[in-house]
Amino acid sequence: MKKSSPLKILIAASEGVPYSKTGGLADVIGALPGELSGLGMQVAVVLPRYRQTKLDKPKILIPSLTVSLGNTLHFPAIWTKKGKEDVEWFFVDYPPFFDRDSLYVGRDGTDYPDNPERYSLFSRCVLEIAKREFQPDVIHCHDWQAGLTPVLMKTAYASDPLLSGIPSIFTIHNIGYQGQFPTDALLKSGLSWDLFTKERLEFYGKVNFLKGALVYSDWITTVSRKYSQEIQTAEYGFGLEGVLQERTGRISGILNGVDYSEWDPSVDRLIAANYNPSNLAGKAVCKKDVMEQFGFKDKNSDWPLLGIVSRFAQQKGADLITAAAEQLLTRNVRLIALGSGEPVYEAMFRDLAKRYPDKVGVKIAYDNTLAHKIEAGADMFLMPSHYEPCGLNQIYSLRYGTVPVVRATGGLDDTIEEYNPNTGTGTGFKFSKVAAEDFLKALFKALSVYSDSAKWKLVMRNGMKKDFSWKNSAGQYLDLYRKLAQKKSASKTQ
Ligand code: ADP
Ligand code: GLC
Repeated sequence: MKKSSPLKILIAASEGVPYSKTGGLADVIGALPGELSGLGMQVAVVLPRYRQTKLDKPKILIPSLTVSLGNTLHFPAIWTKKGKEDVEWFFVDYPPFFDRDSLYVGRDGTDYPDNPERYSLFSRCVLEIAKREFQPDVIHCHDWQAGLTPVLMKTAYASDPLLSGIPSIFTIHNIGYQGQFPTDALLKSGLSWDLFTKERLEFYGKVNFLKGALVYSDWITTVSRKYSQEIQTAEYGFGLEGVLQERTGRISGILNGVDYSEWDPSVDRLIAANYNPSNLAGKAVCKKDVMEQFGFKDKNSDWPLLGIVSRFAQQKGADLITAAAEQLLTRNVRLIALGSGEPVYEAMFRDLAKRYPDKVGVKIAYDNTLAHKIEAGADMFLMPSHYEPCGLNQIYSLRYGTVPVVRATGGLDDTIEEYNPNTGTGTGFKFSKVAAEDFLKALFKALSVYSDSAKWKLVMRNGMKKDFSWKNSAGQYLDLYRKLAQKKSASKTQ
């Protein structure tokens, strides 16, 4: 294969902007394909069609596929639509599995019990699309929901002439979510008992889809350099560190980019006023606007405003925030938080707002416009995550001049540089130990720099000038795709 020939890249994931989203994975799937297409590649993406997926004039490409799971036949359809930047989108349309209130979790807050069947069907449709409609040079799968695709390629589909030799790349966006199920999931999702061994999908008596992907894919990536090292340790590997250590030569960390056409205060249409590093006036307008959104009157608008936009989950350090809050709120500061997730953390935030009505504002919701307004209106952005594979919000914050205070883990450590008062360099404030006192120390340091407006503006501008656009990261994925695809064509010509 010539170096310059365009590659055909098939991407499979369970969510992607603008069609579906619960978190950062969707942002990545919304941006990476277009960037690869801009580099001259032919790119297609497969997603499920959920109730929240809004499609304008899709085409029904395959009215009925036959997918066998356990003893049952299912008949999903495949829809298609050309998206921005010439990317082709395929949607697995199967209402019994995907036409539901939310993506993964039922009304009672627990995972849908048929998730193994749902995403086994999805992973199989990816392969049928690859065979019939796209004939890719590489298949790039994301997270456990697409994890059976690389497994099936090396097992049930291993002798399929149309798929043979196509390399699979698997990206871990969060190793805390593995797709672990009771053993009966194996048969229900149409997998053979042969796969239920320690070397394959078995994990402490359960079936683990993510483990399967890590064992069977040709290459593993994750979304920051630091996280690629962390997940190979017991502290961060969620039990899969051994599997990863065995594959250590085939793991790389490629930092996510961000989409600055969506997340940049100089063009953002969701915020009250636009601004840029050489004219920050609009940021004060945004601060006033977001304070109003949270019901704070204009008084004390000189107090620093600390923002949070987050899934409320253990991962994101909600416990550290509530533990640090009492002491933090003895100062003249305001805290605004937007998020939703685990009921226990939602309750913690609600309680804080009740106890400090003049200082704390909380919205339990998923609200993209408000997320933009917080990024623009806050002075600081808090992300004290226990672990963070990449994290996008701190990168958005940099561009909005909203100085991040973060725990030095994963992508947070890779993207935020500690402010150094001697040299005037740095973009934020970091702490290492998972401890409220250490988080407070970083916050107090940030607050003391904030009180010196010239210094604070310097930190803001240092961050605003950073460039985390997709160009660089998409180039790294492309190099990897080429390396793997070349190996494939070399082995075919031997
Ligand atoms: P994760 O994927 O672990 O949740 P990231 O920082 O990678 O974390 O990405 C989170 C994405 O989801 C960002 O685009 C963020 O703005 C968005 N987001 C998270 N919670 C909310 C919410 N409650 N309302 C609106 N957007 C949210
Ligand atoms: C995951 C991670 C987050 C990352 C996102 C996109 O949800 O928790 O850190 O930014 O995926 O890769």
